[in-house]
Amino acid sequence: MPRLKSPSISPYFDVIVVGSGAAGLYAALCLPNHLRVGLVTKDVINMGSSNYAQGGIAAAIDSSDNPNLHLEDTLKAGAGLCDPEAVKFMVENAGEAIAHLVEMGVAFDRKGEKLAMTLEAAHSHPRVLHSADTTGRAIIETLTEKVLERQNIQVISQAVALNLWLTPQKNRVQGISLLHQNKIQWLKSSVVVLATGGGGQMFAQTTNPKVSTGDGVAIAWRAGAILRDLEFFQFHPTALTKPGAPHFLISEAVRGEGAHLIDDCGNRFAFEYHPAGELAPRDVVSRAIFHHLQKTADDPTQAHVYLDLRPIAPDRIRYRFPNIINVCKQWGIDVFQEPIPVAPAAHYWMGGIACDLMSQSSIRGLYAIGETASTGVHGANRLASNSLLECLVFASQLSHIEIQPNLVASSSEVLQVDFNWSEDMEKIELIRQMLPSLMWESAGISREGELLDRALDKINHWRESLADLDVVQFLANLLPNQMIELSSTAAEQQLRMVTETLNLLDLGYLILKSAAWRIESRGGHYRSDYPQTADRWRVHTLVQGDRLWKSPMGINSEELKIKSMAVEA
Ligand code: FAD
Ligand code: SIN
Repeated sequence: MPRLKSPSISPYFDVIVVGSGAAGLYAALCLPNHLRVGLVTKDVINMGSSNYAQGGIAAAIDSSDNPNLHLEDTLKAGAGLCDPEAVKFMVENAGEAIAHLVEMGVAFDRKGEKLAMTLEAAHSHPRVLHSADTTGRAIIETLTEKVLERQNIQVISQAVALNLWLTPQKNRVQGISLLHQNKIQWLKSSVVVLATGGGGQMFAQTTNPKVSTGDGVAIAWRAGAILRDLEFFQFHPTALTKPGAPHFLISEAVRGEGAHLIDDCGNRFAFEYHPAGELAPRDVVSRAIFHHLQKTADDPTQAHVYLDLRPIAPDRIRYRFPNIINVCKQWGIDVFQEPIPVAPAAHYWMGGIACDLMSQSSIRGLYAIGETASTGVHGANRLASNSLLECLVFASQLSHIEIQPNLVASSSEVLQVDFNWSEDMEKIELIRQMLPSLMWESAGISREGELLDRALDKINHWRESLADLDVVQFLANLLPNQMIELSSTAAEQQLRMVTETLNLLDLGYLILKSAAWRIESRGGHYRSDYPQTADRWRVHTLVQGDRLWKSPMGINSEELKIKSMAVEA
């Protein structure tokens, strides 16, 4: 993918979309094409989890399947916390989203004339459409091509959104601050759509790419938006686990096609933990591996189990998983001859910015889509392959947006800065390195009250110790309409690192706080000191600023006080 050099940026857009994954790209395409859209992305355009999606995209579109079955499976996996209305909306709109992708040219695998479907864990029916084991890449390539053709969309790459720009009354959004090409500038827009993906980089072991630092959720929190269910993080059971190798995902579809999970002794242990064995819900399989390693391994933190593909016919492996074969080969593993060493890794964040069915957050003019949002479709645990579907279905809601473009770009004062932040950077870099281990050990697959409290103390101490640093103060005191010119690219890189670290620290604090508060186990949140699911906890956790409270089910839109899609002047 070529690096796009952005021409000079317009200081005013009708809509700014932050993030160029499946959610951001599709939203940009669905927005009415008379609107001027700025698509901001912090790396190259195709860098994000979407591009790495393997297994596929779920849609009950086969004549033998039915959206109601998809709804039931999603609700079951969500462990009592899905919003049934949101799930119904998603599964019923799946067909339209898939038809649009096919029409745009996404080459899903076919069986004869029909789209091929595979089975994944906790789906009662084969309904996962795929393009070999690089489904995400197939979707992103097509969406990118379409976005680049559109005259009304300006792509601004290698640009980091820092914060929202609120009106002086703080009651609606009027743009963002942006770090781009050695400058910090303020871009005005009537609407901001956050599509910044997940936050897997919070954890020491993750399948997520480097860009997944939860920026959008942190940005929305600082602006006062309501966040929801932050304690629910999904750990994928099978990430490649080999010294020196990345935690490359070994798709759930591999188990769907018949691979076995085995331990050091060749024992197919998953059935000891759940009757569905390898095809039990994802959180169950991850915990089964975690507990099995606790029981059997000398050092469970370094240990792994194996995924054995040999029960699948070799031709089928070649057809379905060419990328997995290649990546494993690069790391010295021949999947036809030997099982792949795997262990769980942080994969998907169910929590996020609370949004209604129209993708609107609690702040007027602020929308959130994709993994950054909490729409209610995943509850406490996402069903495999529902994420790409959610990205598309909720992004397409932006086609209904109404905007009164009454904002005028204002002139900027230009300030040149030449700071030396090297001492500050040492402190920040150290914390950036330590944070993921702290989160993995305290808020990983198995959590416990005392550990969560201790981690919370530590993170608060880190946040306080950074608060007075010059570089942190510099970022905290940026003024709207003041354009800052930095002295070098190195300074830009430093600010990017600082802003990501501060975001991760804020989110770590919020996840730990929510996880310590929820004294039960449910879906992706497992507490060894409260291993049972408790009826009285069948509620959402809402967060706004430092306030945290329970919300009964089904109160979504009311709670968010969202009355209409029209953006007020
Ligand atoms: P992303 O695709 O992650 O995109 C986020 C974008 O935001 C990126 O462009 C990033 O650069 C940008 N960004 C972030 N912060 C900023 C900032 N501050 N300023 C500017 N830009 C910013 N789901 C499925 O349904 N099926 C699958 O098969 C599947 N497989 C997966 C495999 C892997 C390895 C992973 C990691 C996830 C998988 N998932 C799958 C989950 C799914 O891919 C993601 O949840 C989904 O793609 C998220 O899309 P998104 O558009 O919300 O975010
Ligand atoms: C996978 O291919 O296992 C990932 C699917 C998903 O995260 O939905």
